[in-house]
Amino acid sequence: MTAGTSTTAARFRRFAEIEVRGVSPLYEQWCLGISTDPELLTLLDHLPSPRRQPNLLLGAARLAGVPLEDYRSFRRFVLQHWETIRRTLETRTTQTNEAGRCAVLLPLLTQIGAAEGRPLALIEVGASAGLCLYPDRYAYRYSPGPHLAPASGSPMPALDCRVSGPAPLPSALPEIVWRAGVDLSPLRADVPDDVRWLEALVWPGQEHRTERLRAALGVVRREPPLLVEGDLNEEIAPLVARAPQDAVVVVFHTAVLAYLDAAGRARFASTMTGLTGQRERPVHWISNEGAGTLTGVAGALGKSPGERDGSFVLRHDGRTVARTGPHGQYLDWLP
Ligand SMILES: C[S@@+](CC[C@H](N)C(=O)[O-])C[C@H]1O[C@@H](n2cnc3c(N)ncnc32)[C@H](O)[C@@H]1O
Repeated sequence: MTAGTSTTAARFRRFAEIEVRGVSPLYEQWCLGISTDPELLTLLDHLPSPRRQPNLLLGAARLAGVPLEDYRSFRRFVLQHWETIRRTLETRTTQTNEAGRCAVLLPLLTQIGAAEGRPLALIEVGASAGLCLYPDRYAYRYSPGPHLAPASGSPMPALDCRVSGPAPLPSALPEIVWRAGVDLSPLRADVPDDVRWLEALVWPGQEHRTERLRAALGVVRREPPLLVEGDLNEEIAPLVARAPQDAVVVVFHTAVLAYLDAAGRARFASTMTGLTGQRERPVHWISNEGAGTLTGVAGALGKSPGERDGSFVLRHDGRTVARTGPHGQYLDWLP
C-alpha cells in the first residue's frame, strides 16, 4: 500500500467515523469498506487529491445509479462502472446545496435588518445553485423557540433547528430585496443534469433533504437569483458594488472556505475585513464554516476539546457567535 493509498484510506475512514456515523449508516458502511479495499483505493489514487474526496465518489456512484445495498454490491457496481464514475470525478465537484443552513443564518439576518432599519441585499459566495439566498421563503421550527413561516406559505416542511444558549431568535422573517451569488461553477435549477447532481449529493437516510432540495429548487426556478460564474476573490467587490444603494449588503458563505487554499482564505478574509470597515457603506459579513477554516483570522475558533465533531462555526463580522450543525440542524449560541 502506497503512502497515497494510506492517506486516501484515512480520508474515507474519517468520513465514515466523523461525517456520516449516526446520520447515514449505509455511507458509513461503504466508506469503512473502501478504507480497507486495496483495489478501490488504488483506482482512486490514480486521481489527483481533490478528486478523491469521499463525498465526490459517493455522489458520482449515485449519479451512475449504484443500488443502495451492502458494501459488496457497492464495490461490484463501482468496479463495473468505473469509467463513468471516473468521468464524473474528473468533471464535477461537491456542490451540496443545503437550504437547511438558512435556519442558522436567519437570526443574524433578521437582527441586521432590524438594527439597520432597511431591507437586505444578500450576496452569497460559493452559492452552488443559490438555495441559501431565499431564507425569507422558507418556514422554520426552532426548538425551543418560535415557529416562523412566510405569509404566502412555505414550499416545504419547516426547517427544524435545535437551539441552546442565548440565541437572538427572530420573531419575523427579514425583508430581502436583492439576491446575488458567485460560484466557480454555478448550478442551474432549470438544468436537469445539475438537478440530478444535486440530488446525488444527498446522503441515503436523509430523504427529507431530497424533498427539501426539490422544493427549494422550485423557489429558485420561479425567481432566479443573479448568479455570477467566477472566483469569489475576484468577484466579491464588483458584486457588492452592484447591490442596490438603499439596501444593507450582507455577504455570507457556508461550507465554502474549505475549498480554498490558505492564501485564498487569507485574501478573502482581508477583502471582507476591508468591506465591513468601509466608512461610506459598510457591509455585514456572515461566515458559517467548518471549525478551523478561518484559523489565524481575528475571532476565528479552532477545534477545541469536547467540540461536537463536524460542527460549523458561525461568525458575524469576524466575531464568533455560535456553533452550528453542518446542515443547519442545531444552533449552539455562545454565552
Ligand atoms: C459545499 S458547496 C456549498 C453551497 C452553499 N453555500 C450551501 O451551503 O448550500 C461549496 C460551493 O463553493 C463553490 N466554490 C468553491 N471554491 C470557490 C471559489 N474559489 N469561488 C467561488 N465558489 C467556490 C463550489 O463550486 C460549491 O458550489
